[in-house]
Parts: sequence; C-alpha cells; structure tokens
Amino acid sequence: MIARKRILTGYRPTGKLHLGHWFGNLQNMLEMQQTYDAYYFIADWHALTSHWADPSDIRTYTEEMVLDWCAAGLDPDLCTIYRQSEFPQVAELALYFDMITPMAWLERVPSYKEQREQITDRDLGNVGFFLYPTLMAADIAILLADAVPVGEDQAPHLELTREIVRRFNNTYGEYLREPAAVIPKEGARVPGTDGRKMSKSYGNSIFISDPPEEIRTKVMSMLTDPARRLKTDPGDPDICPLQQIHKLISSDEEIARWDGCCRSAECGCVAHKRKLAEDLVAYLAEFQARRTLLAARPGYAWEVLEAGAAKARPVIDETIENCRRLVKLDSAG
Ligand code: TRP
Repeated sequence: MIARKRILTGYRPTGKLHLGHWFGNLQNMLEMQQTYDAYYFIADWHALTSHWADPSDIRTYTEEMVLDWCAAGLDPDLCTIYRQSEFPQVAELALYFDMITPMAWLERVPSYKEQREQITDRDLGNVGFFLYPTLMAADIAILLADAVPVGEDQAPHLELTREIVRRFNNTYGEYLREPAAVIPKEGARVPGTDGRKMSKSYGNSIFISDPPEEIRTKVMSMLTDPARRLKTDPGDPDICPLQQIHKLISSDEEIARWDGCCRSAECGCVAHKRKLAEDLVAYLAEFQARRTLLAARPGYAWEVLEAGAAKARPVIDETIENCRRLVKLDSAG
C-alpha cells in the first residue's frame, strides 16, 4: 500500500466557528480525512501571540472547537486532532528556525504589516507576534507534512515556510520536507448578516453552535438588497446576502422560486428571512444535536486531544531528535 500523503492544518482558538468556516473550510477538512493522513491542530500558542494580555478564553475556545469539529464529522479515529501547546518540541524547532531566519523575511510578510496597521485595539508590538511565521513553519515541518491546505490569505506564510525549510536543509543537511501549498477547493464565500464577508471581527457572524432562537434573531436582522425599500419594489437576489446563504443550503427549485418572486416583487424580504431562518435551523439541527451529546460527555474534548497527541507524539519526537542532531545539540556526541 502506498503511504497516504500527510496534510496538516491549524486553527487559532480565538472564537467560535461560524458559517464561513463551515462552508469555507470545514467541508474540505471532512473530505480530506478520508484520503489523507490528516492532522488538524489547535494553534493555541498562535492565539497567544495576539491575545497574550488576556488569554482567559483560549481554553474555552479550544474545547468548543474540538466539539464543533467532531460534531461536524471529523473522526478522531480517522484524523489526528491535537493541541499545539502539548508539544514543547514545536517551540524548540521554532527556535532553531529563528536562528536561520533573517529578520527581513519576517518584516515583509504581508499579513504582519497589515495586522500591525489595522488591529489597533490590541498591542501587537510583541516579539511573539513578530515570530508568528517561524512558529507556523515549525508546526508544519515537525510533522514533515507533504501539504498544507489553507486559504489564499495564508499563502505567504506557506511560501515563507518553504524558504525556511530550504535554508535549514541547505545549512544543516537535507532532512525537512518542503510542504506544498494546496489551496483547497474554493470554499463558498459566505456573507455575514451585514453583507460583508462573515468574520468574527465584524460582529456579523452566525455561529454554527448558535441556538435556534439566536439564529432566527440574526437572520431576521440581515441586510437584503439595499435598493429594495418597499415590498413592492423588485429586488436583485444576486446581491442579497440572504439569498447567498440560502443557496448554500437549499434545493435549486427552492432558490429559483425565491429568486423569481424577489425579482417580481411578489414576495417580501421578511417572508424570505423567516424561511431562511427555519431552513438554517433545520440544516444545523443534526450537527447541533450531535454537539449537545458530545458536550454532555465530561472531558470529551480533552480526551480527543489526548488521544490525538498520543498519535502525533512519535512523529514529533523523531523529527525533533533528528533536528537536534543536525544542529549538533544532541547528547550522543
Ligand atoms: N496561521 C493560521 C491561521 O491564522 C493558523 C496556523 C498556525 C496554521 N499554524 C499553522 C495553519 C500551520 C496551517 C498550518 O489561520
């Protein structure tokens, strides 16, 4: 049997998963656990790089993410789910990377510059945030991952990982694997309740764990075609966030029906909102029921993380041992 290719992807536990994650990434993760040796980890150290001043939610979000993942169908027997901070070896490899990485490489990472400029409510002048990319490179390299499926926004980080790995190999000997950047199958772009891209930081998210009442309230508050002021005005469903989300969960006939009656002003936005709210509640019901069951099992998330760590440990131990030897810090002499 040919060994399955190893993939790895990580999430920062800084918030709950919303519909944008569900349609954008989670569906890919579900598919990939079937065909790859898949590692999915909680990047809690990465959360700390930006949330160091108040880390009190990181544990909760870690737990919630594992529940979300497993209720959505990630199977801890098929894939390996673990927590970054379980493995000091990752920090050790990051330290070796810090030695060989020119500061200029980190200074020109686009997301670094952008976030320093845009995020003003948090202090990102710390060294840990600056070193985010070498830590990420270590996440990937320690598992000798073949590929990393991430969104377009992470592509520069991946390119940097490849450069760091090349430099490590050139300096100390060919060993670490250069990961291919797999931009996964285009996930759907999910608009938030205000029509902008759904994002926790915009406060426009519908979380997959939101109770039905909350889903209804959020959907009823959604923006629709802003040019359609009266029910008698014809609307344009192509620019209506409501319709964009409805498309993701309903049949073509159903969508065509709302499309038609919106254009002809035969139905109103309020009716459409009520329908979407009910469809969404129904769409998420099975997931939410599974999640409630898992959440009722005390310590379930931590069990999953422990079992995943046990699977990842031999790989991680072996890589760090080899790296120590290559940088001449092993004790064998
Ligand atoms: N930077 C990623 C994000 O913000 C999270 C992450 C950390 C990651 N380490 C990783 C993703 C390693 C893939 C592989 O989404």
